[in-house]
Amino acid sequence: DMPRYVKIVEVGPRDGLQNEKTIVPTSVKIKLIRKLVSAGLPVVEATSFVSPKWVPQLADAKDVMNAVKDLEGVRLPVLTPNLKGFEAAVAAGAKEVAVFASASESFSKSNINCTIEESLARYRAVTSAAKKLSIPVRGYVSCVVGCPVEGSVSPSKVAYVAKELHNMGCFEISLGDTIGVATPGNVLPMLEAVMAVVPVEKLAVHFHDTYGQSLPNILLSLQMGISTVDSSISGLGGCPYAKGATGNVATEDVVYMLNGLGVKTNVDFGKLLSAGEYINAYLGRSSGSKTAAALSNI
Ligand code: HMG
Ligand code: MG
Repeated sequence: DMPRYVKIVEVGPRDGLQNEKTIVPTSVKIKLIRKLVSAGLPVVEATSFVSPKWVPQLADAKDVMNAVKDLEGVRLPVLTPNLKGFEAAVAAGAKEVAVFASASESFSKSNINCTIEESLARYRAVTSAAKKLSIPVRGYVSCVVGCPVEGSVSPSKVAYVAKELHNMGCFEISLGDTIGVATPGNVLPMLEAVMAVVPVEKLAVHFHDTYGQSLPNILLSLQMGISTVDSSISGLGGCPYAKGATGNVATEDVVYMLNGLGVKTNVDFGKLLSAGEYINAYLGRSSGSKTAAALSNI
C-alpha cells in the first residue's frame, strides 16, 4: 500500500554542503535554505553543530541558524553529535536536532571518534536534555546495509541501534545507506528487521545514490509502509568520512517519481527546480538530478 502523502526531509544544506571541497559562503547557504523553504519542503536540515576541525564546511552553523531560525512553516533540524553541540544549537535558535549513530563500529570510529555504545550514551544525554526543553530529536542510523571498512552490515545490528534510538525518545529514525551500496535485495531484510522493533510510522529512509539504486530502494520502502524520505537538492552531498560515497538521491528525482505515483508532497516543482539551479550555478556544475537535467533540455 502506497502512502498518500510523503514527507520529504531535505538534507542538501547539511549532507550536501558538508562534503563540498570548497567552503560555501554563509550567505549562499542561507539563500539556498530560503529557496528550499519557499518550494514548500516541510523539513530542511540546515547545518551541523559538529567540531569545525572535523567538518570545516559547516563551521558557520551558528550564523546560518541565526539567519533562518525564524522562517515559518518549516522545521529546520540540525545535527548534534554530543551535548556541546546540542547546547550550541539551542543557543543559536534550533528548535529541532538530530543525533547520528552507526550500525558499524568502524564507521562510528571514523565519523564520530567513539564506539557505538559510547555514542548511544552521548545521545541519551542529548535526548534527555532535549526532553526538558521539549525539543524533538531525530535519530540517524548510518551504514544500514554497507560500511566503507567492514563491508556488509547485518540487519540485526541496524535493528539494535534503531531500537536504542527509539527507546531513548527519538521521534523518528532515519535509516542511512551512507555509501549508497544498497539494492532492494538487501533493503528488504534490513527494513523487516527494523520494523520488527520500531513502528514503521517512525521510520525514514536516507539513500545515497552512488550505485544509482536510490529510486528503486525508495519505491520498495514506500511499498513497505514508510512515508518519510530524505533527499538532497540536485543530489548534492556525501559524507566526508565515507570515501567515494556520492550525494543523496536528488530531491527533484524523488518528487518527480512521487508525482508520477500520485503521492502528495506539497512541493512546488518549479520552485524546487529553481533552488537546484541556484546552487548548481554557484558551484559551477551541472545538476546531479536526472529530472532537472532532462527538463533543462526541453
Ligand atoms: P573528538 O575529537 O573525539 O571530540 O570528536 P572531543 O570531545 O575530544 O573534542 C575535541 C575538540 O572538538 C575540542 O576542542 C572540543 O571542544 C571540540 P579543542 O579543545 O580541541 O579546541 N568539540 C566541538 N566543537 C564544536 N561542536 C561540537 C564539538 N564537540 C567537541 N559539537 C566529534 C568527536 C563527535 C565532536 C567529532 O568527531 C565530530 O564533530 N564529528 C562529526 C562528523 C560529521 O559531522 N560527519 C558527517 C555527518 S554524519 C553523516 O553524514 C551520515 C548521515 O547523513 C546519515 C547517512 O548518510 O548514513 C547523517
Ligand atoms: Mg547521509
